[in-house]
Amino acid sequence: MTPTFGAGGDEPYARALQNDGQLLLVPAAGNSAASLVMDVARWSAAADATDMSLIEEGSGPLLDIGCGPGRMVRAALTAGYSALGIDVSDAAIGVAEAAGVPVLRASVFDPLPLEGAWMTLLLVDGNIGIGGDPSALLERCAELLSSTGCLLVEVQQDASVDRSYECTIVGDDGRASASFPWAEIGAAALARRGSAAGLDVVQTWSRDGRTFCRLEPRP
Ligand SMILES: C[S@@+](CC[C@H](N)C(=O)[O-])C[C@H]1O[C@@H](n2cnc3c(N)ncnc32)[C@H](O)[C@@H]1O
Repeated sequence: MTPTFGAGGDEPYARALQNDGQLLLVPAAGNSAASLVMDVARWSAAADATDMSLIEEGSGPLLDIGCGPGRMVRAALTAGYSALGIDVSDAAIGVAEAAGVPVLRASVFDPLPLEGAWMTLLLVDGNIGIGGDPSALLERCAELLSSTGCLLVEVQQDASVDRSYECTIVGDDGRASASFPWAEIGAAALARRGSAAGLDVVQTWSRDGRTFCRLEPRP
């Protein structure tokens, strides 16, 4: 099985989900990408105003890809949508289920319910990096999405960023995960890769230091 975000090794992601720790995403030696701080406490908290405004850009049914403990799914339910989160992490799915959030332990690349009928897909908190191949992920999203739906992606602030690399997740205590593939992308690169998958960027905006793109299937 392909190694995934923060899994294996000393399982820092699973432990951070228990104690709201901070994680560092550390690119493998020899890579020019900088380490990224990942705030598990924010993922575990309730959705903030920026999260809620993103949810309001969409409609139901909504699928949060790489949902973690499920704050965006809870937010979508609060907005009155039907919603589901998927994640490959047993620890994240356990936290979400314990809180009564509707989630499925599955990879985005597995067969999923409502293929071709989701009205909103979310890739937030860096999740366009899932699998380390944004083009493959965008092609998969195009399969999942309704022809009248939208894909909402959080991107890097620098529009030109387009990099894939091997990395590890390192916890507060310095203990690391196994190595896994990841990617970072900005709006211009997302537009280029999305277009090849039949998804057009129709809007890009920033709020509270975060940048988002809305993609829609080409008619
Ligand atoms: C950067 S974290 C984002 C966490 C999250 N959005 C939250 O609110 O907690 C990436 C998440 O994607 C999940 N993930 C990694 N590979 C995946 C895959 N192939 N399919 C679904 N989820 C995946 C990880 O387990 C992790 O929870």
